[in-house]
Amino acid sequence: MQKLVVLSGAGMSAESGIITFRDMGGIWEQYDVTKVASPQAWEETPQLVMDFYNQRRKQLFECKPNKGHELLSQLEDTYDISIITQNVDDLHERAGSSKVLHLHGELKKARSTSDPSLIYTLDNWELKLGDLCEKGSQLRPHIVWFGESVPAMYDAENIMQEADIVLIIGTSLSVYPAAGLIHSAPGSAHIYVIDPGTPAFTPSKNITFIQKIASEGLEELINKLKN
Ligand code: OAD
Repeated sequence: MQKLVVLSGAGMSAESGIITFRDMGGIWEQYDVTKVASPQAWEETPQLVMDFYNQRRKQLFECKPNKGHELLSQLEDTYDISIITQNVDDLHERAGSSKVLHLHGELKKARSTSDPSLIYTLDNWELKLGDLCEKGSQLRPHIVWFGESVPAMYDAENIMQEADIVLIIGTSLSVYPAAGLIHSAPGSAHIYVIDPGTPAFTPSKNITFIQKIASEGLEELINKLKN
């Protein structure tokens, strides 16, 4: 089986009703990223940070995977698929994809502020100041904030190095180190980019752009791969 490595971003979940970050009306137009998604914000205004992620988590509990997530999951019958996602939602997993690596953390998890190895799955949307880990320390959202390192990068690079085919879907490729992952793909790998916009990408002979939303772009890709 050929190895297909997917790098997904917010656009993958847009058809599920989750707004992206940098499109018009996106999250970072509504919020100042440094005030809700940084270690400084957590130190200075933890309630504001909690409220921001509680709102996102509440919405996620109400969302379902979309056709794009489902098509990717079904493609496992034909390809050995690994998904590297910048998304903090669990929609790839809920659609049935079996290998999903989260670069930027997971919204439905919380972790200890004193011991990062203590990670807990939340069964409801609300995480509160005063919710503690088993060692008595405050729990925080299990999210990689701006300015923090990305622990999953090493595994992501190793996965990318094995790719026969790469699919970049629904990401503006504007956040590093995630956006640099593409450089870990072997030169022989063909790269497909599905996005209705124009991600920051240097065209080369190994790249095919499919300028469509995720579900429609995936249908087109599946047809292309069949031929
Ligand atoms: P962006 O909001 O930067 O980019 C979303 C991309 O999805 C854009 O290229 C859009 O054109 C595209 N898009 C919009 N609707 C789409 C659809 N229906 N189908 C397919 N594509 C669509 O989101 P990301 O690139 O994921 O990090 O952002 C990367 C990181 O920046 C996020 O993980 C988050 C954010 O700050 C953290 O919070 C750490």
